[in-house]
Amino acid sequence: MLPVLTIDGPTASGKGTVAQRLATRLGFHYLDSGALYRLVALASLRRGIAPDRVEDLAELARTLAVTCTDGETSLEGVDASNEIRTEEVGQHASIVAAHALVRAALIARQRALCMPPGLVADGRDMGTVVFPDARLKIFLTASVEQRAQRRYQQLIAKGFAANIAPLLRDLTERDARDSTRAVAPLVPAAGAKTLDTSYLSINQAVNMILEWWQGTR
Ligand code: DC
Repeated sequence: MLPVLTIDGPTASGKGTVAQRLATRLGFHYLDSGALYRLVALASLRRGIAPDRVEDLAELARTLAVTCTDGETSLEGVDASNEIRTEEVGQHASIVAAHALVRAALIARQRALCMPPGLVADGRDMGTVVFPDARLKIFLTASVEQRAQRRYQQLIAKGFAANIAPLLRDLTERDARDSTRAVAPLVPAAGAKTLDTSYLSINQAVNMILEWWQGTR
């Protein structure tokens, strides 16, 4: 069985950056499952598929041509790394991701992305549902205020307009939806190690997880 390291947690907890650096340090592939949900959401917005048309959304999730590994994010062959990062697409992804049929359609696709020599998988249900046999499972978290601040900095750096108050409201709303949904809610996996990054740098978080990883051998 291939070695898998799962990094789950709420939005803007630092998961993406931490998971990508871990993948580089370990020489593993990197799966950004949030990007997968965002790509499905973006495609559904472009095609005008309403968020309650579950069958159509699931069909899209099954067949859509996407890339969401190793830092590449594309939709039907075209780079979509900036388009998927808007708050509108993030909120829509969270709504689309609450449908069991959509999630079911994406499970096999995510597992198929686990290739040698190993995988760092970043998301909400990587340790609970998609890779339950992962060698190490991390639940990365941070206070909602810290996360809103980070999200703000990210958006500004990308040239988007941003305000803290609506970001804080959106994060709280999205956390509530992701954590209370019936299917694959955002909860720490059994055996997961929780790491609060509110007062940790990216490097400190990465080094801590690498230390835990060495301990699994
Ligand atoms: O990690 P992110 O903010 O890019 O994820 C966007 C949305 O996708 C998030 O609000 C919930 C959903 N998601 C999910 O349900 N399961 C995952 N494994 C990853 C993301």
